[in-house]
Amino acid sequence: MWRPEDQIGRIVSQIREEVKDGDVIIGVSGGIDSTVTAILVHMAVGDRAKAVFIDHGLFREGEPERVVALLSSLGIKTHYVDARERFLARLEGVSDCEEKRRIIGETFAEVFAEAISLFPQAKYLAQGTLYPDVIESGAVKGADKIKSHHNVGGMPKWFTLKLVEPLREFYKDEVRRLAKALGLPDEVVYRHPFPGPGLAVRIIGPFTREKLDIVRKASKIVEEELGKEGLLRGVWQAFAVVGDDRWVGVKGDKRALGYVVTVRVVESEDAMTADWSRLPYEVLERISARITSEIPQVTMVTYAITTKPPSTIEPC
Ligand code: XMP
Repeated sequence: MWRPEDQIGRIVSQIREEVKDGDVIIGVSGGIDSTVTAILVHMAVGDRAKAVFIDHGLFREGEPERVVALLSSLGIKTHYVDARERFLARLEGVSDCEEKRRIIGETFAEVFAEAISLFPQAKYLAQGTLYPDVIESGAVKGADKIKSHHNVGGMPKWFTLKLVEPLREFYKDEVRRLAKALGLPDEVVYRHPFPGPGLAVRIIGPFTREKLDIVRKASKIVEEELGKEGLLRGVWQAFAVVGDDRWVGVKGDKRALGYVVTVRVVESEDAMTADWSRLPYEVLERISARITSEIPQVTMVTYAITTKPPSTIEPC
C-alpha cells in the first residue's frame, strides 16, 4: 500500500544520499510542488537548504507575499528577488506562445543564475518537477512534445548545479497526500496548480500589461466566487483568460468596446485529460456580473466548454 509517511522517509534519505555536501538551492514558486520539495530538502539537510523565490510579475494577486510568509513560518529562509520589470519588459508585445515560454525560461535562468551567485556554497538545485511534466515535455522516450513546460530541463548547459528532483516520479494527488502528511495547511494542499510561466500563458495574442491586469483581476473573481460556494477544492483549476477579440458593450449608457474574458474551470485527476466543470448557472452569472462591473475594460464573459483532449487546459 502507498503510504505518504513511508514515501517521506524514503525521499528524505534519498536526498541525503544524493546531496553529500554544499548548499541546495530550491526554486520556490508558491505551488504545492516546490513547497513540498523545499520542506523535504529542509528535512534532509537543514539550513543547507536555501529557498529562492523569483517574482516574475506573472503571479496571481497576493501570491508572492503569501509564499514568503508561509516558508518563513516553516523555518525556511527565503531569498526574494524582484525581477518583475525585467520579465514584463521583455514580454511586451510578444504573441507566440512558445516564444513567451522561451523568453520566460531564459529570463528565469538568467535571474536565477544571478541569485545563485549569492550562495557560493551552492552545489545542487532542487525542483518540484512532477511525473506528468516530465512526460508532456517529451522527456520520456516516445512521448510527443505538447508544450515546453519551462521548468523542465530549462536550465542552460553551462549551469553547474546538479539537479535534484525528489517528486519526479509522483502525480499531483500523491504530492497532495505527501503535503497533508507533512502538516501543510489545506490552503496549500488544495491550492490549484499554476503554470511556471504564470499568467503569461493565459494571455492570447500580444502580451500587454493591460491584459495581464485584466487576467489577474478576473482570475481572482473566479476563485473568490467558487470559494464562496465551496466549489474550489473540487475542481482542478479555475481561472480567466483574455485575448484580443472585442465586444461592443454599453456601460453607463455609453457604447464601450471592451475585451472578451473567457472563464476556464476544469476537473481532472492528473492534467493529462480534463473535463469542463458543469458549474451552476447562478455561479457563472455572478462571475460574469462581477468581472464586467469590476473590470471596466471587459464587456463580455464566456465559459470554456471543451475537454482535454482535443483542447489543453491553458490556452497557450
Ligand atoms: P495543459 O495546458 O498542457 O496543462 O493542458 C496541463 C497542466 O500543466 C500546467 N502547465 C504548466 N505547468 N509549467 C508548469 O509548471 C508550464 O510551463 C506549464 N504549462 C501548463 C497547467 O496549468 C495544467 O495544470
